[in-house]
Parts: sequence; structure tokens; C-alpha cells
Amino acid sequence: MVSADMQDYRAIRTAPDTCFTIDDMLERHAQNKAAILAALRTPYEGPTVVMTHHLPLRELIAPWRIIGGHEKRAMNNGFACDLWDEIRGLDIHAWIWGHSHEGESRTLEADHGPIRFVTNQRGYPDEEVEFDPAFVLEF
Ligand SMILES: [Fe+2]
Repeated sequence: MVSADMQDYRAIRTAPDTCFTIDDMLERHAQNKAAILAALRTPYEGPTVVMTHHLPLRELIAPWRIIGGHEKRAMNNGFACDLWDEIRGLDIHAWIWGHSHEGESRTLEADHGPIRFVTNQRGYPDEEVEFDPAFVLEF
């Protein structure tokens, strides 16, 4: 369902005649997740900001995308994973995400303090989205 309905799997090529697949995504997700978590476990004195294309938490999916039938909810698997149990104990100040073209920023209380989950997505050139070109994230 996700690969049939999500443009990424038609538009992205891993070779001239080979489309990006769910297996490609899962393999890269595992590699990137391991690398990000390893970096986050390395002590650092300053603010720690993570930036990923995909949503790190399912609860960041826009509420109107969660309501609906099985098909609609199944598509959310193409947008978000749920890393909360793996990241709540890490000293992260902000996590910036995109991919969904919509969503709401929010702050969640984690073991080291609040983590700000922030999005400010431009979307496609002709798409109307809630984008603030003047947005600044300060620490
Ligand atoms: Fe995307």
C-alpha cells in the first residue's frame, strides 16, 4: 500500500531503471537509525539537534491523518516510525523533521528534559502548506 500510493517509491531511483522500494527504505532506516543513535550516545556539551526526513514519532503525524479507515492509517507507516523508547533517555534538545508536508510541532518531556519536535515544511512549489519562512529555532 505505502509503495503503491507514495510518490517517493515512483520518483526515487536507486539505479537508472530501478525504483526505490520498501526493502530499500527499511535497510536505510536501520543503517541511519543506528548511526544517529550512536552519535547521540556520544557525550556533547552543546545543544543537540537531530534533523531527519521522516517523523521520529507516530504522534507527530497530523491528527487528521490518524482518523479514518485502515487504508488511511496504513499510509502513516510511510511517514513515521516510533523511536520514543530509544530516544527518551538521550540528551536531545530538538528534533527537526519533514516528509509529511504537514504536522504540528510539539515538546515532549524526556528523561534529560524537554525535546522540541519541530517542523516547518515548505512542501512542493505549488502546494499550500503552513510554512513560515521567517521561523527561527533558538536555544
Ligand atoms: Fe519524503
